[in-house]
Amino acid sequence: MQYIPGLAGVPATESKISFIDGEKGLLTYRGYDIMELAEKSSFEETTLLLLFGELPTQEELEAFDQKLRDNRRVKFNIKEIMKNLPPTTHPMHMLQVVVASLASFYPSTEYMKGGTENQEYINDVTVKIIAHMATLVAYWEHMRNGFDPIEPRKDLTYAENFLYMVTGEEPDPDWARLLDACLILHAEHTINASTFTTMVVGSTLANPCSVISAAIASLSGPLHGGANQMVIEMLEEIGSVENVRPYIEKRLAEKKVIWGMGHREYKTKDPRATILQRLSESILQKKKSKLSHLFEIAVEVEKVCVEKLAHKGVYPNVDFYSGILYKEMGFEPELFTPIFAVARSAGWMAHWREQLQNNKIFRPTQIYTGAGNLCYIPIEQRSPKKVTKDPEEIEEESFVQQES
Ligand SMILES: CC(C)(COP(=O)(O)OP(=O)(O)OC[C@H]1O[C@@H](n2cnc3c(N)ncnc32)[C@H](O)[C@@H]1OP(=O)(O)O)[C@@H](O)C(=O)NCCC(=O)NCCS
Repeated sequence: MQYIPGLAGVPATESKISFIDGEKGLLTYRGYDIMELAEKSSFEETTLLLLFGELPTQEELEAFDQKLRDNRRVKFNIKEIMKNLPPTTHPMHMLQVVVASLASFYPSTEYMKGGTENQEYINDVTVKIIAHMATLVAYWEHMRNGFDPIEPRKDLTYAENFLYMVTGEEPDPDWARLLDACLILHAEHTINASTFTTMVVGSTLANPCSVISAAIASLSGPLHGGANQMVIEMLEEIGSVENVRPYIEKRLAEKKVIWGMGHREYKTKDPRATILQRLSESILQKKKSKLSHLFEIAVEVEKVCVEKLAHKGVYPNVDFYSGILYKEMGFEPELFTPIFAVARSAGWMAHWREQLQNNKIFRPTQIYTGAGNLCYIPIEQRSPKKVTKDPEEIEEESFVQQES
């Protein structure tokens, strides 16, 4: 048996949902190029496409959209759970806790007994989770700052309603269209760490709310969805175009990663980074934004990184330009990864449903490298262990990289 760290390149499923060509920098959802979907589709339509495999008819889209609108409100007791969280709770941790708690409000007794044929429950919970995600993130933005949350509106699209709930203002059509495109771009990306988490937990027939809560935990890590927040902090720390080269050189010499760079699947620029860069540039110019300097720093970081890292196949990924766009929309950096999670709930639900259609519990094997044939020594006869290094020193030395 050959051990492949991080399961890199190991097929863990067959899937019809999305496809990446890492050499060409191509991403398709159900066969449609992401570039075309970002330009012409909506998040609601793309979600239906991901879930059911085809572009919907007008009637199907309207019916699904209406269900999403009808499921935006969350129960009073769920808000009570949120009120009891410390205001310092990161929105990703809040989301993980509250989405897990939805399992008690929407139990799945039949389904958990193995009744995967319960299609009605599967469809209802799919809509419930996708609709609730945006409400929970927007609620928490106000609650953690000590204010009452703003209730969702049914007359707005998914993206418009999220903007409205976070800002409390009528959504600007330019921002709503841009946010819609961002949601489409983040909705799905084959079996990355969080989607694989969805499949592993889903394969046990755990409640779907627990499944998505686990996926949220997986996405929250800085090597995965958490990178977009790290990128903006890095660009702010760099501060000016002149500082870029020494900053990058120092970080690389210290063997630290450059946030928003590199991807397990792409050996060229992530197509989503290309679209987001284009969108950022045009909107920053149009709005004569104060954040243009961050964009200029980002372009310079990309230039220096391509010079230094292209031979390793390391180029900007989706997280590199998305933060600038979200910051310009007025979102706090802590909201960036939750917005990613809101969008990705569509892809997670699609993979959860696909997993159920041909389910086999995940149970890989391992190569044992530990000791064997040891005899038990009574505690009083054991010699004291030698402590060679303190634990902090050991932690600093370990540099672990995972899949995104
Ligand atoms: C995404 C990521 C986890 C992929 O990891 P991976 O597929 O395991 O890639 P590897 O760690 O094998 O990288 C291959 C080489 O490129 C280097 N590399 C990869 N990403 C890098 C980065 N962001 N900055 C600097 N070097 C990087 C590695 O150090 C390694 O170099 P080596 O061969 O000299 O040891 C990794 O690129 C990363 O940590 N990126 C930053 C975090 C991020 O932006 N995540 C969001 C992804 S959407």
